[in-house]
Amino acid sequence: MAKLCVALDLPKEEALNLLKTLKGYPLIMKVGPPLFLEGGREITEAVKENNFELFLDLKLHDIPNTVTLAVEKAHDLGADYLTLHTLGGMEMLQSAVSRKGNVKLLGVTLLTSHDQNYLGFLKTAFGGVEDMVLYLAQTAKEAGLDGVVCSAGEVEKIKKRTGLITVVPGIRLHAPPQDQKRVFTPKEAVERGADIIVMGREIYRSENPKKTVEEILNHVLGR
Ligand code: C5P
Repeated sequence: MAKLCVALDLPKEEALNLLKTLKGYPLIMKVGPPLFLEGGREITEAVKENNFELFLDLKLHDIPNTVTLAVEKAHDLGADYLTLHTLGGMEMLQSAVSRKGNVKLLGVTLLTSHDQNYLGFLKTAFGGVEDMVLYLAQTAKEAGLDGVVCSAGEVEKIKKRTGLITVVPGIRLHAPPQDQKRVFTPKEAVERGADIIVMGREIYRSENPKKTVEEILNHVLGR
């Protein structure tokens, strides 16, 4: 069954309050660089003490030795999930996998902020963004990663080709009218094959975050 991940893109005190508010729900809590740099261990320990799964979204990309040491530190912090860039290459990915223990390593393919222009910048031979994303997802699989971060638009193909855990951000509760399919609802993402849906602002900016989480868990994820 699909899981819900809450992106804690908040200042530390607000993030700590949200953890208290949502205590008791089966959630993954995603901590990115800003919150990690502000809150460090205090925030990672609070996530674990409140019985949530910990997702460190640090999108690592460095020489194999440095990334591998960072993976070990993430393991020591109790991370359940950790992101790294597949663009770091096979050697970096395989080295990270060799020391991951029970941390699930998730590969970032191309950031959604990158488009066809980025392929031109890299001077790659890929015809389009989708070709490159599928190649990088396949690389993640070959390196032994556990999953990939991808958009709901890509998830069907990636799931079919790799069978990896698919983590999907870009989710909105109600898709806007005349939606260009850049954002998807939780139900649409799960129907397309998302294993974990990531939602931030739609939850913590809602009037009642607890009620919003409950609604998503009950009606969409079939808890
Ligand atoms: O608030 P919102 O639901 O848009 O938050 C989405 C989260 O997903 C953010 O933490 C953002 O960093 C993350 N994200 C990602 N990869 C993308 C797009 C968003 O990890 N391609």
